Amino acid sequence: MDHEKYSYVDSLRWLANKYGIEIEETFASDEQKQQIRVADSLYIINSFAQQFFTTTLFETEEGRDIGLSYLKERGFREDIIKKFQLGYNPEARDSFAKAAIAGQYNSELLLKTGLVVTRNDQLTDNYRGRVIFPVHNHSGKILGFGARILKTNDKAPKYINTPENEIYVKSKILYGSYFARMAIDKADECLLVEGYTDVISLHQAGIENVVASGGTSLTLDQLRLVRKYSNNLTIIYDGDAAGVKAALRGLDLALEEGLNVKLVLIPDKEDPDSYVNNVGASAFNEFVRSHKKDFILFQLEVELKDAGADTIKKSEVVNNIAETISKINKAEDFTKQQDYIKQCSQILKIDESGLHALVNKFIRNRISTQEKALPPDRYRDEEVRSHEENAQKAAATDYDDTTFNLLFKDELQEKEFARVLLEHGNKKWNGGTIADHMLDEILDEQLFDSADVVKLINVYKTVLKNENIKPDKNFFVYHSDPAISSFTVSLLNFPYEASEHWKREFSSSTGYQQRLFEQSYEDFLRSVSVGNETELMTFLKMDEDKTHVEVESALNYLKLCKIKRMMLENQVDLEKKHTPEEYQNLAQTHEHLKQMEKEISDKLGAVIIK
Ligand code: GTP
Ligand code: MN
Repeated sequence: MDHEKYSYVDSLRWLANKYGIEIEETFASDEQKQQIRVADSLYIINSFAQQFFTTTLFETEEGRDIGLSYLKERGFREDIIKKFQLGYNPEARDSFAKAAIAGQYNSELLLKTGLVVTRNDQLTDNYRGRVIFPVHNHSGKILGFGARILKTNDKAPKYINTPENEIYVKSKILYGSYFARMAIDKADECLLVEGYTDVISLHQAGIENVVASGGTSLTLDQLRLVRKYSNNLTIIYDGDAAGVKAALRGLDLALEEGLNVKLVLIPDKEDPDSYVNNVGASAFNEFVRSHKKDFILFQLEVELKDAGADTIKKSEVVNNIAETISKINKAEDFTKQQDYIKQCSQILKIDESGLHALVNKFIRNRISTQEKALPPDRYRDEEVRSHEENAQKAAATDYDDTTFNLLFKDELQEKEFARVLLEHGNKKWNGGTIADHMLDEILDEQLFDSADVVKLINVYKTVLKNENIKPDKNFFVYHSDPAISSFTVSLLNFPYEASEHWKREFSSSTGYQQRLFEQSYEDFLRSVSVGNETELMTFLKMDEDKTHVEVESALNYLKLCKIKRMMLENQVDLEKKHTPEEYQNLAQTHEHLKQMEKEISDKLGAVIIK
């Protein structure tokens, strides 16, 4: 098992075959036995066909002149051509079919292999005039073939592959795994390319830990095959858009399987085959080594570039990456997941804890969907239904709101600041008004991103200077500038206008209070329907504190946002080249900001607990 990288059953079969012992598979049903018989026959036909094609390639004039010269022109050495058992199917209508019939192979099975087709009631070769690439399973038996056309500018497909049958199941095949398995084990890394010729050329260059997916996106079975040999998968694709897209599609599955996935893009208009032929083995290895990119970060960069300044697209990117990260979900991969959250939140310039929350949400949703998929149980029915509802709700609203919250955190805090200012600005505070206090604390409206908020603050300041007008809510609601008026209205509904979900999740306690305070005292009593006087008093007491809590938390959250942003900018700056002095300055700034962050967080903690 260890030496050949076989499974237990495969090892047993291999040994039995070597020593001529027949294995009786007693567990198989009749149907299974029939299938095994078909499979065995297909292997036998394929083996016969491979020998026919190889003999034709090397020992017939047509084979040598057309097939072999083509392969040699492409740079394949004879030893490699033999190792991979390449072959050639003549151009005549039925050379292979004739040989197969002469060998008394069953025509129904022959058709199953795809090597022949019926034309005018006669068996006809399907791969006429093509070079043949046998596709081996991991123990070297031939599952099927890829047949490449030689002439260019033909309407016919470049490759014809074996149709799906009992043994050729495309989604379970990695081309080259038989030749690569020991090298993959030794290097503890599996290189993945697209095509047959990529595998063969790399092999010829001495890079043997390589398999091909056949140009489609990776399937779970293929990834599990890789994982049998190594946890490290390096995907080497052409730089063209289609190749990259195909590569990206396999990513999430690979993560679920606990694979470490890296990506290398081959430069312009080349594929691994042509590139290794151009630059040679050592330059190729060096290129791969120095251009390996982490798959998740690569995906993030690509998507972020695509999104540009479009905030809606950007929020999709945040969602996608959170979903991707959530797929790293094996207990032993926990640190890896935390690492990704950190790195991605830095690249996205969003709050780390926010991304954390979003990732967790995806994990929770998946768990509830999985539970839903369990067979129903009469005690669980109710639970299942509620899971289902949650999952649906989540799909409809959840992600977007959270992403919104993440991306526009600064904007949210700015709006909250403006709302509190409008709501409570006129109230007394330490000998002055709350507005004085708030504007004092914020010193500079340069700090604000939102043009609406800046405008509103400026108007507010002008009004404060004018003794005749009192800056209450109504003044702004009925302001002559419709922009101010409508912004005020939206603010006063904020954050409740954001969505039903926001209301439910993020402000459930304050939302509850809010609703209650809008009711009359009698209605309130009726709605709580608790006669308990002390409970009621505690509740009403919160009303008195509520203004202060709101003002302080609006200020502190806003400050926290801005400090976090400054830290990020500082960090970006730190990564550039600096003189030691500059560097020290930046490092000091960082420490200072960190200290401030801690102080404010502590204060917020106190407020939140209250
Ligand atoms: P060469 O052109 O001979 O160098 O082959 P390649 O491997 O570079 O081919 P390409 O990059 O065009 O395609 C990559 C892989 O996709 C191939 O190895 C095939 O497995 C598969 N493929 C390409 N063209 C076709 C086609 O026309 N039909 C099918 N079924 N598969 C194809
Ligand atoms: Mn190629």
